[in-house]
Amino acid sequence: MTTAPTAHKGSVGVARTRVEGRDKVTGAARYAAEVPFAGLAYGWLALSTVARGRIRSVETAGVLAMPGVLTVLHHGNAPRLDTGFVGFLGAPDPTCAVFQHDRVPHRGWPVALVVAETSEQAREAAEALVVHYEEEPHDIAFDGERSDAYPVDGHMPAVTAKGDLEAELAASAVVVDAEYTTPEEHHNPMEPHAATARWDGGRLEVVDSNQGATWVVSDLAQLFSLDPASVRVRSEHVGGGFGSKGVRAHQVAAVMAATALRRPVRVVMTRRQMFSLAGYRSPTVQRLRLGADAGGRLRALEHRALSLTSTVHEFIEPSAGAARVMYDADAHHTANRVVRLDVPTPTWMRAPGEAPGSFALESALDELAEKCGLDPIELRARNEPERGPVSGLPFSGRNLIACFREGARRFGWADRDPRPGLRREGRWLLGTGTAAASFPARARPSTATVTAEADGTFTVRISAADIGTGARTALTQVAADALEVGPERVRMRIGDSDFGPAMIAGGSMGTRSWAWAITAAADELRERLIPGAGIPPEGVTVRSDTTAAVAALTETERHSFGAQFAEVAVDVATGEVRVRRMLGIFAAGRIVNPLTARNQFVGGMIWGISMALHEEAVRDRASGGHYAADLAGYHVSAHADVPHVEADWIDDPDPDDPVGIKGIGEIGIVGAAAAVANAVWHATGVRHRSLPIRPDRVI
Ligand code: MOS
Repeated sequence: MTTAPTAHKGSVGVARTRVEGRDKVTGAARYAAEVPFAGLAYGWLALSTVARGRIRSVETAGVLAMPGVLTVLHHGNAPRLDTGFVGFLGAPDPTCAVFQHDRVPHRGWPVALVVAETSEQAREAAEALVVHYEEEPHDIAFDGERSDAYPVDGHMPAVTAKGDLEAELAASAVVVDAEYTTPEEHHNPMEPHAATARWDGGRLEVVDSNQGATWVVSDLAQLFSLDPASVRVRSEHVGGGFGSKGVRAHQVAAVMAATALRRPVRVVMTRRQMFSLAGYRSPTVQRLRLGADAGGRLRALEHRALSLTSTVHEFIEPSAGAARVMYDADAHHTANRVVRLDVPTPTWMRAPGEAPGSFALESALDELAEKCGLDPIELRARNEPERGPVSGLPFSGRNLIACFREGARRFGWADRDPRPGLRREGRWLLGTGTAAASFPARARPSTATVTAEADGTFTVRISAADIGTGARTALTQVAADALEVGPERVRMRIGDSDFGPAMIAGGSMGTRSWAWAITAAADELRERLIPGAGIPPEGVTVRSDTTAAVAALTETERHSFGAQFAEVAVDVATGEVRVRRMLGIFAAGRIVNPLTARNQFVGGMIWGISMALHEEAVRDRASGGHYAADLAGYHVSAHADVPHVEADWIDDPDPDDPVGIKGIGEIGIVGAAAAVANAVWHATGVRHRSLPIRPDRVI
């Protein structure tokens, strides 16, 4: 073949349906728990029924006599794991290192794995398993400020402080001082966590549903003291993750059982188990103090956030982080703190920090606008920082006000009467609200290979994860452009750790990091191929590694920005809030695939509706467990709750990215709940500072 690419018009920027879409809707695409294996055994996790204490004994005898039961793994017989390492994304949460000791740090802690010939037999036996505990008093109370809270750095410093906060507040003409709370929230991806482990010719293979095979290989290898080259993780299709699909108890338990039984073992979490085992978003208590001069210019900004973590692992929901990028003030103080309780360890959940943080910050800005008698967009325009308020670094681009201007035009903001509680339509009070959004635009090293095949096609291999985002399709488009061919000539292979190390689908960094590696390999391949020359039967392959290129990125404040708008109707009799329409305008880098990008933005915005009005996991103080750990008790926005939601973007390519990408995975939810809450205030004249805005809170 020849590689002369004459008809290539460019694929990036063109709307394309998912390359695997047909496989998904016809059922041909197999998810982790659907991949067949000969001789498969099934493991079922048994979880603690007490919230704190010690396991006295696990009565295995009766269960081992049940039909089909093969083994029961628990702290008394499980292999020891090495937990003293810093993994791909930090130290592992000991929650994943199952059966290592007799301590129970929270209700729902995995205490045993029952393995049987069928899933039903394993479940029956796991539910019959008797575990005796020495119970201790537990503490799960997260009510507000606690004296045992302490600052935690996480991926950013816990505390930033410049200027004299009290002096600037005292000198301010207008002050907002308010506390905002958000509840415990759960990811609930459609596909539950599932893993099958088996030994195959001396190699451990795990077929899994995860956000990054490299991550799972790296952590499993370290936990089991294996050479990473002897571990392979595959995850071709993943039905949602949102931050919850890393290394968790089920993969580890499956590997233990597969090792003990010398046959493939599958462990799937139930929806209920996910509430204890899959991580969640911590509840938050956030105090905002804003002081401004009469013209609305901020003199003082304080954002103090409190979240919770478990007694076994320190995880911080960094809600105060967004204030470090959004607004400057003469005195600017932020703090992220946690309290440790007898609960499961929270984890990253879509826009960790930014999602709850933007609810508090952007609600407080709306309150300030009201007090200053300023339009909320004008208030933000008057507080646009020249440089990073905390870092002092220049912005690589900051199109926040451009997003507001475009959004205001399309939403019809100019006609808005700012006074609250005035618009009535039958039994409905109507209002509109807006809020800003931002999310960091980062990249991480990845490797990729691109092969020019003898038949004129190209095969790209990268250990990327498409968790439903459309990443596989976007990467196909990126590769096609880099190779200067049509996308139909590109075969995209992802979800296999044997393709080499790559970034996870997380932190809005996946597509950007992978596209970079693919572009680098494709560029080199194009240089290598001689036009008119033949391709050998084995093809020509180029491997890239972007470690050096990513490290050389200029240090700037690099973020995506956005403006969220919402219109709500509030039923004066029942307190029901209905969102009537939403619009989000984003400046989020070059958009690779307008179809799947719109899906991402709209999905995030719908989650914002859910966060504003529905989602709330409630724990029972007495038992330490949830009241309703399922999708019947934990409400998420359903179709009937979701009106016309529109997302669009302005041109905003990243100047330092080879494709111009910034990353769009998370920004859609940021600010969305605040826009709804601000609209509820505009409708009713009442501020709602605690989510969700349930009917009983509205009345
Ligand atoms: Mo996302 S919370 O980085 O999966």
